[in-house]
Amino acid sequence: KRIIYSEKQINQRIDAAAEWLNKKFKNNKQAPIFLSVLKGALPFYGNLIMKIKIDVIFDFIVLSSFRGKMKPSCMPKIITDLFNNIKGKDVVIVEDIADSAKTLCVLIKYLKIRKPKSITTVVLINKPDKRRVSFEPDFSCFTIYNSPFIIGYGLDINEKARNLPYIAEFDKRYLGKV
Ligand code: IMP
Ligand code: MG
Repeated sequence: KRIIYSEKQINQRIDAAAEWLNKKFKNNKQAPIFLSVLKGALPFYGNLIMKIKIDVIFDFIVLSSFRGKMKPSCMPKIITDLFNNIKGKDVVIVEDIADSAKTLCVLIKYLKIRKPKSITTVVLINKPDKRRVSFEPDFSCFTIYNSPFIIGYGLDINEKARNLPYIAEFDKRYLGKV
């Protein structure tokens, strides 16, 4: 329907996220594990990681939280687990969106069982007024109140539109047609 954040605006905010992370881990003895929550975080992660100036270890987890088109499912499921043993390590979760935050809360609970040294959460989009569980990301590139359903830069509608290089409002007139 309309562009909410342009590619340029997104790049600028990812620069800020990278700067924040570079500062935070500047004097770290061991490389933090940057964990991409697939599939939605992929473009954000790919861009962010290129701006990180310290040693990092890549990792990925595949979660599924959306069952249908625009409604979240009750409980996110782990489809593919991460590669690394995170015990005693700093973990940076890189996620597309904190909406109800159920996905991030389940993930954090799951990771904590493995006793990491720390968990930091970085999200591209924060929708604080959509929470169903209490949660605050450590860094968010954009905070939107009264947010419509948005697509692009990893965010999908029925698995489509993830490859848009900007973030846009989805036009509900096309619901059921994509
Ligand atoms: P949660 O509600 O915070 O658990 O978010 C679950 C997942 O829903 C996110 O990882 C996104 O993949 C998806 N999601 C939430 N809001 C939107 C949206 O506005 N557009 C596209 N996907 C969304
Ligand atoms: Mg997601």
